[in-house]
Amino acid sequence: GPNRPRIIAVDGPTASGKGTIAQALASHFGLPHLDTGLLYRAVGWHCRSRGGNPDDPADALAATRFPDALLADPALRREETGGLASRVSLHPAVRQALFERQRAFALQPGGAVLDGRDIGTVIAPEAPAKLFVTASVAARAQRRFLEMQARGEPVSLAAIEADLAERDRRDRSRSTAPLVAAPDAVVLDTSDLSRDEAIAAAIALVELKLAG
Ligand code: DC
Repeated sequence: GPNRPRIIAVDGPTASGKGTIAQALASHFGLPHLDTGLLYRAVGWHCRSRGGNPDDPADALAATRFPDALLADPALRREETGGLASRVSLHPAVRQALFERQRAFALQPGGAVLDGRDIGTVIAPEAPAKLFVTASVAARAQRRFLEMQARGEPVSLAAIEADLAERDRRDRSRSTAPLVAAPDAVVLDTSDLSRDEAIAAAIALVELKLAG
């Protein structure tokens, strides 16, 4: 309906295609986009670069006061930074510290697209359009492998697969805001879809939800 907030929540595991899909949705619907994984990556990277231990709740919490300029640092995109992000994201105090920023972004008057792990469950449970984007570990590892090769990062497919499986396990089993589809989310499995097919499917699903 016309009065519902145009909040689009895109959740899913790493390398599922959720970031690409969220960006495409933002440009299609003319909405601002927040990659919330980047906030956790900034915390993980900042913690490590100050000599902190990402598994220590106090060190990780202190790192939530990272400088905003860090969000533009290409180091945040590295695979190893994703691992640090996953570790700091386990601490409830870290999630709490990042909550307001994400919530305020979601509540912008015109609407917003957010992608992450807990947008549809915790950050914006009232979002009218929720996608849970998944793909097999093999498909995700293959994509990540090609991305890293293109960036000239030294990689092994087997190491990427093992790392993805470990991060999935940690993200799904944590006690606070685990990676899980919201009951009202539409699941989109991109294992056998091209980038363009996945985007087209996502746009069609969101259009239905926003119209409903
Ligand atoms: O989506 P990504 O790979 O950039 O996310 C990195 C890590 O951050 C992920 O392993 C778990 C954490 N994360 C989270 O706990 N909640 C979010 N909304 C986004 C990311």
